[in-house]
Amino acid sequence: MKLKKFIAFFLLPMFLLFVSGCDFNDKKEIKIGVAMPTKTRQRWNQDGANIEKGLRNQGYVADLQYADNKPELQISQIAAMINEGCKVIIVGAVDVNSLAGILEEAKSAGIAVISYDRLIMNTDAVDYYATFDNLAVGIVQGEYIEDKLGLKDGKGPYNLEITAGSEDDSNAFYFFEGAMEILRPYIKSGKLVVNSGQTTFKECAISHWKENISRERMTGILQKYYANKNLDVALCANDSTAFGVINALRAAGYNKGDKKMPLITGQDADKKNLKMIVSGEQTMSIFKDTRILADQTVKMVKAIVEGKDPETNDMGNYYNGVKILPSFLIRPLFVDKDNYREVLFDSGYYNESVLEE
Ligand code: GAL
Repeated sequence: MKLKKFIAFFLLPMFLLFVSGCDFNDKKEIKIGVAMPTKTRQRWNQDGANIEKGLRNQGYVADLQYADNKPELQISQIAAMINEGCKVIIVGAVDVNSLAGILEEAKSAGIAVISYDRLIMNTDAVDYYATFDNLAVGIVQGEYIEDKLGLKDGKGPYNLEITAGSEDDSNAFYFFEGAMEILRPYIKSGKLVVNSGQTTFKECAISHWKENISRERMTGILQKYYANKNLDVALCANDSTAFGVINALRAAGYNKGDKKMPLITGQDADKKNLKMIVSGEQTMSIFKDTRILADQTVKMVKAIVEGKDPETNDMGNYYNGVKILPSFLIRPLFVDKDNYREVLFDSGYYNESVLEE
């Protein structure tokens, strides 16, 4: 009896602990590289943290690196991931055109590569793409403007200026194209007037999505073309470029007296921008629930590690110049003054206290 008790209460639990420990250690040896572009934008910090957590929950070890927006640094970080034997590498690219060489090396080493959020261009050494539907991001921004200004009902003309994303980020072009698909007809018909005349992606692009570059560009536009006119709408590709535009507008006397802020779009629902949505300085942002994207990406990793086919839902839209990538696309939502509580707080994405931070 005593022996049975000893086995039941001491030896058996010890044995189980040992076995589960072995199992855990086995999985621990599976390393996954996570190469993120920058810590300067809130969203990428969340992306990295969510992926790391998800991988850890699966028992994998994550090597999470941020490249400080420097393409060469990202290449050397990926080289280290290859050397340390990562099974899969998840890449949120700094420069989508600079990775072909290093990813060829990953491919030769038998490592699978997931293009995360940004579409890596001109290489067949990338296996899957997990992202928010980039074209839809732009379409939602464009339709929001169309709707709020009553363009479909023939209202206008309104003065519009456009701020796009970074030229080295393939997504930026999709965002621009999606929005312009909706807005171009109104520019043609004269219901939207771009006084600067800057309507091509190249003219509107902001290097590395930088706030200060966006502010300087808009300051110049306002001085040159809006001395005697009001800007009614600013299509901004994301929250950092929107922030730059808002600062330029504040300095030019908008949001004072009866000089109202224009309708301003954004993307990422950054905390700082959410506060401006609540205060009325920014009109909307695109909410990308990075928890869902991280989750989906971890599922992809798991399938790859287990030798299965990862789940995808788009097989035709994302061509990287060499191949069409099997992709998993997530639908983005807009967030504005009327729905932010429901979309951001009720979903648990943010705690209401972010408004006080
Ligand atoms: C894009 C991304 C956006 C935004 C932007 C700036 O690639 O899809 O969500 O974060 O970069 O970092």
